[in-house]
Parts: sequence; structure tokens; C-alpha cells
Amino acid sequence: MQDAGEKGTLASALEQEHREIDRAIEDYLASSDDDESRIEALEQTMTALRRHIYLEEEFLFPPLRDAGFVAPVFVMLREHGELWDTMGTIERELADDPAEVPGRCKWLLAQLAKHNAKEEPILYPHADGVLGAPASAELVTFLERGRIPDGWVCAGASA
Ligand SMILES: [Fe+2]
Ligand SMILES: [Fe+2]
Repeated sequence: MQDAGEKGTLASALEQEHREIDRAIEDYLASSDDDESRIEALEQTMTALRRHIYLEEEFLFPPLRDAGFVAPVFVMLREHGELWDTMGTIERELADDPAEVPGRCKWLLAQLAKHNAKEEPILYPHADGVLGAPASAELVTFLERGRIPDGWVCAGASA
């Protein structure tokens, strides 16, 4: 799903994943079939977004915070909690109230737009610098095939 981006930096790989996740949610909204593959694709997209948040919170934000980006990291953690809660709601609605899912996906896209518009210019330009090349390369590989640990929940999630 993911290649390392033109320059192979973690920042470019994370930005590319933002685009892929947006596109996958837009594809879900653009399609009107209610077949299982459309729902599975949406579930896979949410798995990718949760893993993206995991990588940022566990590996990228701690060194950024140590480098002085305390306030922006605080805001990003709060917004991750909001994204996480919306994904939980989407999963419940897929099971119990599917008519609500498209509207909720539009809300998720709006939350992502607001989040990514800050994360990309404020934090990502410093990502590879604070991590150092070996750690960045390891995380690019994680984006290609890593898995989030079972039961991991982001810091700002309400549930
Ligand atoms: Fe991100
Ligand atoms: Fe983020």
C-alpha cells in the first residue's frame, strides 16, 4: 500500500499515507454499492489510520516533544483522540446503523483535513531530523508492513 515516497523520507511516506487514506474514504463515499468489499475496504482504511496514529504517538511525537514541539504535539494528540472516537463510531454504525456511515465518513475527512493541514507543515519537516536516518528508515518499513499491537489505544481516545 505504501512506498517510501520520492525521497524515501519518513515525512514523505507519512504525507503519502495521508493522501491514500483520504482517497480511500472518498472512494467509499463515491460508491453506492453495499457489497462486502466496500465495507472491508473502509475497515482496512481505518486499520491503516490507527496504525499511522500509533506510529506517530509511539515513535515520532516523543522525540519531537523532546526537541521543543510541546504545544503542537499536544494539539495533535487531542485530535488523534477525536479521530479515534469517530472511527469507533463508524464501526458501531457499520453494524447497527449503516445509514449514518457516509455522513460520519464525511466528518472523518473534515477532521483529517484540519489535522493534516497542521501536522504536515509544522511537525513533519522535523520528523527525519529528530529521529535520525536509521530510525526513519525503520519507520518507513513499518508503514509498509508493520502491525499495531493488539489492544493499543491512542492517548486522547475517550473510550
Ligand atoms: Fe499523520
Ligand atoms: Fe497525526
